Amino acid sequence: MSPFRRLKENWLQPFFFFGNNPVTLIGSGLTTASAITLLLYWGMEIIGHGFANPYLGIIFFLLLPALFILGLVLVPVGMALRRNRLRRAGQLPTTYPEIHLGDPVFRHGVLIVLTATVVNVIIVGSASYQGVTYMDSAHFCGTSCHVMAPQWTAYQASPHSHVECVECHVGSGMKSYVQAKVNGTRQLVEVAFGTYPRPITAPLNALRPARQTCEECHSPTHFTGEKLLVKTTFGDDEKNSVTRTVLVLHLGGVDSLSHRTGIHGHHLNNFEYVSTDPDAQHIIAVTATNPDGTTTQYVDSSWTGPIRGYTRTMDCMDCHNQATHVFQTAEDAIDEAMTDGTPSASLPFVHKEGLALIQASYASQAEAGQKIVSGLDDFYRAQYPQVWFTQRPLVDAAANRLVAIYDRNVFPDMKVTWGTYPNNIGHMAFPGCFRCHDGNHVSKGGKTLSNDCALCHNLLAVDETNPQVLNDLSLQNELHLQ
Ligand code: HEC
Ligand code: HEC
Ligand code: HEC
Ligand code: HEC
Ligand code: HEC
Repeated sequence: MSPFRRLKENWLQPFFFFGNNPVTLIGSGLTTASAITLLLYWGMEIIGHGFANPYLGIIFFLLLPALFILGLVLVPVGMALRRNRLRRAGQLPTTYPEIHLGDPVFRHGVLIVLTATVVNVIIVGSASYQGVTYMDSAHFCGTSCHVMAPQWTAYQASPHSHVECVECHVGSGMKSYVQAKVNGTRQLVEVAFGTYPRPITAPLNALRPARQTCEECHSPTHFTGEKLLVKTTFGDDEKNSVTRTVLVLHLGGVDSLSHRTGIHGHHLNNFEYVSTDPDAQHIIAVTATNPDGTTTQYVDSSWTGPIRGYTRTMDCMDCHNQATHVFQTAEDAIDEAMTDGTPSASLPFVHKEGLALIQASYASQAEAGQKIVSGLDDFYRAQYPQVWFTQRPLVDAAANRLVAIYDRNVFPDMKVTWGTYPNNIGHMAFPGCFRCHDGNHVSKGGKTLSNDCALCHNLLAVDETNPQVLNDLSLQNELHLQ
């Protein structure tokens, strides 16, 4: 007997004989269908029509392969069941039917597998296509799991609320593509088992470089010149006294003569820095490239250890780490809201009381919602019954706004509270620019990264009640001075 004949009689014929049962046929349909779907998607990835969303990994790495394997398992299970059934009934044949298309039993089996495959391709394919398109949206990233609530809330209130999450979070190229899919799958598993970190952190190094994100829309060399900033703050006194700070930021850029000036211009030189923490809040050394190609390294003079840690080339995100996920400080949030008119500065002590209420600790946003409202109500009823009696709508509006401020910034279940995410622009609430420009980073040649106030801005007025400069600029009315 030739080897081929032996194979056919001892293996293929029994295989098709026992395989001719519903369980096996459906199993092989499942396997072929998920294989075809997988191949189609991989084909799309290869010709560049892929999907960027990291969580799609769960479909391509888990669900479809699981169906594929389930199908493979069903095939022998169905065959074993049929064999047992026939043996118990004493109907096991001694020779197995020939396999050729002329045999109606064989033909029907093939037909069933083909039909099951087509039906399964339609079901598996369209189900996963719908899953894919849904998961590829910012809406999915932001809302499908509560874990992302803080970033989603901050994102919606940002100038980038129309930029898809994946534009900034998933790199291009095969390596970062696979990395993102593996990460996304791991994160979904973490969510399923509740083992994700609280709060969630994203070390800057895990993000796409600014060249592939920010610079797709913003030109880094754009010359901005000077930028006027007016900050309004309210006091903790009964009258919530208003003061203003006015400064001109030397934003600069690259001007028409190719001079690099100001804040933007000076950091475009591929500065490399070393920090001791992944969030780069403690920078121990930064190396600047000079116009002549030489380099100058500035080292934190209070640092005695080796210059080792997280290394990164400075780009937009080192200053604009909150370009999208803008978390406010409690002070900024309430000052901004009061500048906007609610809480009304006519309510005595509303700044002080409001700040205390949003900064108190609560178990959940729901609890905060109740306690902030009742807290403010109690305060005016007890301390200013006259106000409480005559200005209830103002008090209620103030309370509701305070709750909105809280819900926008604090997420107790994710352990996100005031100050959890540092903002690197400026230097008041967080180290920011002073991570390097603290007057303490010195080069071997004795050059210091200056913290001279005039290096970055001209301070035209600091916490003044009625800055003359705003009168000179005729801005008093524009700024709704009460
Ligand atoms: C314009 C770019 C951009 C877009 C769009 C964007 N992000 Fe981010 N995201 C960032 C940057 C930059 C950081 C790093 C912040 C830091 O390190 O302080 C970050 C950090 C995060 C973090 C880590 C926590 C944190 O705040 O540091 C999460 C979670 C996150 N983003 C989720 C999202 C989701 C969900 C979306 C879409 C709804 C989104 N991002 C859209 C730029 C972006
Ligand atoms: C898809 C295009 C796009 C990408 C990518 C993008 N931005 Fe923007 N960005 C915009 C637009 C449009 C605005 C203006 C929005 C407005 O004026 O309301 C803006 C505004 C800004 C502002 C001004 C915000 C303000 O308060 O006035 C900053 C700063 C900024 N982007 C930084 C960044 C940084 C940093 C990145 C990379 C992490 C980035 N952008 C990525 C389109 C983009
Ligand atoms: C050294 C820190 C630093 C770096 C690096 C940096 N920026 Fe800025 N950027 C600032 C500061 C400070 C402001 C002004 C902030 C404010 O308005 O409160 C600003 C403002 C902006 C604005 C708003 C300009 C306006 O007219 O209001 C945009 C847009 C912007 N930056 C984009 C970028 C982009 C894109 C990059 C990367 C190529 C970048 N920045 C790199 C510090 C930086
Ligand atoms: C990672 C360290 C680092 C951070 C963070 C940083 N800078 Fe710088 N900055 C430098 C270095 C290095 C130089 C160049 C010094 C030199 O020329 O040798 C520089 C130069 C400057 C200059 C030009 C100084 C001059 O001599 O004219 C300005 C202005 C400036 N930075 C503003 C800022 C502002 C504003 C921020 C925060 C938004 C900031 N920097 C954050 C490292 C940093
Ligand atoms: C390395 C650059 C840099 C240096 C040096 C610097 N600042 Fe600033 N400062 C900034 C930036 C950037 C902002 C704007 C932050 C923002 O956009 O909210 C700022 C904002 C401020 C504000 C207004 C902040 C607020 O929220 O009210 C004050 C006040 C201020 N600086 C004071 C000083 C003083 C005083 C010095 C000198 C000891 C100084 N700064 C040195 C970069 C710098």
